[in-house]
Amino acid sequence: MTHISGLTEAKDRVEVLRGEIRRHDHLYYVLNRPEISDREYDLLLKELEELEERFGLVSPESPTQRIGERPRDEFKKMEHMAPLLSLDSVLEEGGLRRFVERTAKFLGRTTAFVAEPKFDGLSVELVYEEGKFTRGGTRGDGLVGEDVTENLRTIRALPLVLGTAIPVPRLLSVRAEVVMPLEGFNRLNRQLLENGKEPFANPRNAAAGSLRQLDARITASRPLDLFCYDILWAEGGVPDLHREDFTRLEAWGLRTEPHRRVCPSLRELLDFHGEMARSRDELPYEVDGIVVKVDSKADQAALGVRTKSPRWAVAYKFEPRKEETVIQDIAVSVGRTGILTPVALLKPVDVGGVTISRATLHNLSEVRRKDVRVGDSVRVARAGDVIPEVMERIPVAGETRSEPFEMPVRCPVCGGEVVVRGAFHVCTNELSCPAQVKGAVKHFASRDAMDIRGLGEKTVEVLVERGYVKDVADLYALEKDQLLTLEGFADRSADKLLEAIRRSRQTTLTRFLYALGIPGVGVHVARVLAEAFGSLESIRKAGRSNLQSLREIGPEISEAVVDFFTNEKNRRVLEKLQRTGIRWDAGIPRARTGLEGKSFVFTGGLETLTRGEAKALVEALGGRAASSVSAQTDYVVAGENPGSKLERARELGVTVIGETEFKKLVGAP
Ligand code: IVH
Repeated sequence: MTHISGLTEAKDRVEVLRGEIRRHDHLYYVLNRPEISDREYDLLLKELEELEERFGLVSPESPTQRIGERPRDEFKKMEHMAPLLSLDSVLEEGGLRRFVERTAKFLGRTTAFVAEPKFDGLSVELVYEEGKFTRGGTRGDGLVGEDVTENLRTIRALPLVLGTAIPVPRLLSVRAEVVMPLEGFNRLNRQLLENGKEPFANPRNAAAGSLRQLDARITASRPLDLFCYDILWAEGGVPDLHREDFTRLEAWGLRTEPHRRVCPSLRELLDFHGEMARSRDELPYEVDGIVVKVDSKADQAALGVRTKSPRWAVAYKFEPRKEETVIQDIAVSVGRTGILTPVALLKPVDVGGVTISRATLHNLSEVRRKDVRVGDSVRVARAGDVIPEVMERIPVAGETRSEPFEMPVRCPVCGGEVVVRGAFHVCTNELSCPAQVKGAVKHFASRDAMDIRGLGEKTVEVLVERGYVKDVADLYALEKDQLLTLEGFADRSADKLLEAIRRSRQTTLTRFLYALGIPGVGVHVARVLAEAFGSLESIRKAGRSNLQSLREIGPEISEAVVDFFTNEKNRRVLEKLQRTGIRWDAGIPRARTGLEGKSFVFTGGLETLTRGEAKALVEALGGRAASSVSAQTDYVVAGENPGSKLERARELGVTVIGETEFKKLVGAP
């Protein structure tokens, strides 16, 4: 190691080292062409670390800063510079042909396409300012995602500083897909299993789970990779052709995937699809189809965007991967909601790089329909991010088969009575079936819910089995002595867990709602409810129609919400929870909208919004939607063929606005 004593000398050396390390990162992670050994690389990094430390030269873009320092409480929101659109998909050749025909018809001539792999990962936006990586976020709803800058910094394939082979725009936004290569995925799952943790179902979930870690050190330990495929926005403009996006991305040192092709017509697109489908098993990461995009950006603009997906691009997925294996046994698992699910325990089989040893059989009628029994040879499929599934039985000539499978009449976990509800068998022992209590508690403690760190699955299981925890509220009554009787708990770890449980009481309404485990209420729906109603009390009181006025809430969810709050047992647990001192911030702090308390009346048909959506917008901003016009009405929104309400508004001198003005007022796109 060089000997350095002066600051100027140190600065120079630090610059040299950073440049070298960046070059090697690029060679290794982006080009797959390393020039030095890992050991030599580590030595460079170590020298840089020491110098930065000694001379106070640390800066956020330094390669030494890849690992985030402290865990975050919750991700900040990040508004995207341009919408991260989603894609429509076609299922077969005919669908792709129609897509190609439609573009030609719309444009009045043919146009070329770029075909590229569809990565099975999660979409992110990367923002570079003055060539430096300054922030990055998940897709979220396409407009606003989660700020995962620190986590992204830990991905080696992501350059923190752009290369300058061509001029770098002052402000640049790039879309990329974060993926977990198959080898790393299988290794991670082995480790998780060894540590008694739940493995990830597929590389996509593993990538998402790893990137969305509050503690960036965990992300840093996960084998993530990424591919850039789109310039979303660049100061000074974007290239005229999509194919040139790639040339630029590469010139800036950003990682792209080499399989892509400019295709003048359907013929070439189909060839590309076929070739990729045949070669995908050789790829070290999961590709689940191809994406076809119109090459010319001018044509893209002419074709435009539907609500969320563009008319100029489409995904054409591959057939799900299938392999043959044998059903060794059929187990029955009991979920959080008491549903009994038959699960085929398989002779482990490699399906496109992922080892499958269990596959769902959904329910009894599925088992009957497919007529699968223990000992049968079957075909299993794994499609994108769904749970592996037993597709069909492969009859073998002369085989002797076992008896048909029967659902147990008693819950395999608690011995409680099993009843049939529709297609499902359900354990009726809601209150005390350990499987249901365990499931509910695990969910309650999980990261997006109450986020109780250190309360692992194993601990929950033992707590429930010992009878210390009979419902989620019991968590808050746990005592140190009880924890100390559990394996693996010592003085300090018990204190830590109790502290984490205590701290979880300060939460947000969204988290709390999600934690309750109401069927259909995932994080997103929980947020929608929290934002629209502002308090648990209002949600509890809201009837089905009120709930359904929100775009995200259909009849099933609204029924589940109402059922949940009318159920006597749930009410008791809720009261118990509130007695433990659970608190949440009063609604989501919102900037004042200026529409608080304003009343709106709609008349006539709106063109781009349903009545329900328009009302939900108003309510979400603190206003009210009324059904008749009075002198107290603030705005009447008149659409197509307005009725007598418009006349009444004119008589009373109430402000009348059109749809465009209304959308401007409420900030709708
Ligand atoms: S382009 C308008 N290109 O697929 C452009 N998406 O099903 C929309 N994806 O959310 C996206 N590989 O996460 C595009 N080469 C690729 C992609 C890709 C994977 C993902 C992306 C998107 C999802 C849509």
